Amino acid sequence: MKDRSLNPIGVFDSGYGGLTILKEFVRKLPEYDFIYLGDNARNPYGGRSYETVYAYTLEAVRKLFQMGCHLIIIACNTASAKALRTIQQKNLPEINDSRRVLGVIRPTVEILGSVTRTKHVGVLGTAGTVSSNSYLLEIKKLFPDFTVTQEACPLWVPLVENNELRNPGADYFVRMNIDRLLAADPDIDAIILGCTHYPLLLDAIRRFTPPRITIIPQDQIVADSLIDYLRRHPEINERSSRNGSVSFYTTDSTALFDELGTLFFQKPVHSEKISM
Ligand code: DGL
Repeated sequence: MKDRSLNPIGVFDSGYGGLTILKEFVRKLPEYDFIYLGDNARNPYGGRSYETVYAYTLEAVRKLFQMGCHLIIIACNTASAKALRTIQQKNLPEINDSRRVLGVIRPTVEILGSVTRTKHVGVLGTAGTVSSNSYLLEIKKLFPDFTVTQEACPLWVPLVENNELRNPGADYFVRMNIDRLLAADPDIDAIILGCTHYPLLLDAIRRFTPPRITIIPQDQIVADSLIDYLRRHPEINERSSRNGSVSFYTTDSTALFDELGTLFFQKPVHSEKISM
């Protein structure tokens, strides 16, 4: 970053998915500065171990702090599920107690009370997010009487990253995972899209989900939650600079990031390469 006086809000994802969240941040908070960091050289994180996702996410957090961020949103469910708590509890007090790192799981879970009537909720996510049981645990904390059923969708991220959104093959796998989820619990009336890539498959997801079921993508929820956080934490809000700048960094090819990133961000993306 050229202007060292900037204190942008950092947004991290394993690759492209977090751009669906950043898009909403920029739409709702256009005056703030943002830095996006995608670890494309090492994604997807979905099938990786705890140790690996934690190590990679911590490197990204340290890098974004070095770049001037005081507040970082981990806009990746897999990294939020496997790394966020340890970073918040163990690393942040050592690095700098006044900086903050937030995730995407808690704000998504918080809205469930106003969405489901049957109190039966489905969660779609990467294998890593599902096996971590983070959604299950977080939902049970806030809503102990809810029934939660999860379904891992390991092929959805590769389909999105290969831009095969309208391929009959994509339809096949979207339908297969939704059918499995609803067969496991036919009373589900709300489904969390617990991966920031999945909003790109929303058309197909809607086609294969009965209309009585509410589908919950995360972009608007996480953006509203950031607005609320900044309002409740004036000390962080005051430290966040406001020149309306958005910078994109990737650990892999910038040409590829700019091409595919545009699909997720829905506006042109111009990235710089960075090493961790
Ligand atoms: N977008 C990430 C998430 O929300 C998953 C992508 C990956 O597997 O790296 O979980």
